[in-house]
Amino acid sequence: MKFRQTALALSAVLAVASLSQTARAQTDKPIIINFSHVVADDTPKGKAALRFKELAERGTQNRVHVEIYPNSTLYKDKEELEALQLGAVQMLAPSLAKFAPLGVGEFEVFDIPYMFPSKAALRKITDGKIGAELLAKLEPKGIKGLAYWDNGFKLMSATKPLIQPEDMKGLKMRIQASRVLDAQMRALGAFPQVLAFSDVFQALQTGVVDGTENPPSNMVTQNMHAVQPYATLTNHGYLGYAVIVNKRFWDSLPSDLRSALDGALKEATRYGNDIAQKENDTAVATMAASGKTQFHTQTPEERKAWRTALAPVAQSMEARVGKGLIDAIRRETESLPSD
Ligand code: LMR
Repeated sequence: MKFRQTALALSAVLAVASLSQTARAQTDKPIIINFSHVVADDTPKGKAALRFKELAERGTQNRVHVEIYPNSTLYKDKEELEALQLGAVQMLAPSLAKFAPLGVGEFEVFDIPYMFPSKAALRKITDGKIGAELLAKLEPKGIKGLAYWDNGFKLMSATKPLIQPEDMKGLKMRIQASRVLDAQMRALGAFPQVLAFSDVFQALQTGVVDGTENPPSNMVTQNMHAVQPYATLTNHGYLGYAVIVNKRFWDSLPSDLRSALDGALKEATRYGNDIAQKENDTAVATMAASGKTQFHTQTPEERKAWRTALAPVAQSMEARVGKGLIDAIRRETESLPSD
């Protein structure tokens, strides 16, 4: 904790250092991209970040070095956004649920329950005009959005079986800092509690919270299944990321390096998005085999009951994320089949 505070206090110094790095771009010294994130290396995001490092270093003949700091080793959720704006790190891939502190609450549209009937529907949005327009909203904040990375659809886990939506009543549930996720838990009668990702395991272990929601890959790599005896494969919402960079840093790169990095990122994005589903499927199998968590697959009736319970969330969040945006996504995706 103390280290993190010190790290932030040093941000201004590091920002100056990062600008002087820019000035050094024409010399022999490599340019360093510090890439901070909060999950394990062995997750879709962790693996995509490592692939980006490999491709970026090769593609620039080592004129750029990418230093990856996984698992909140450098910064926790909110701090990493501040660090990026200050230039203390150059690259992040925060979950789309965490962009509101930058003043861009529209990203929380991705948190609306059952917003995307399938990965194909999601991809149509992130790869299309809406995805590009959302990333463009970051530019006035000094941030450039470069890509969308998948994790996957979320399950609900807790200390008790979650079969009907009523089973959520009264449970303390950890959420990411998103107003839509807050509304989602309240719609189920649960008590949402915002916690940084790095604090979740301990909060579950000590009973500070009773449960949480996550894609399976995040759950298994943080060992949450050791302290969550029940999980339901609800697939009620999506968790993915935007890869973002400090705009001043990015714009100051020599154009040949920037295009090599663009290429590396495109390939890392393809790779990460290709493996994400399999990583999550494997995570469920691993946790089920451990015998520590009992997984429940919903019947069509149960799924319908959860959908009904969560249906009011979209409407109640129209003012937050924009009715126009919700309607536009629905128009683009309604004809696509569900997974
Ligand atoms: C969470 O806080 O649950 C996730 O955003 C962590 C992550 O980056 O996948």
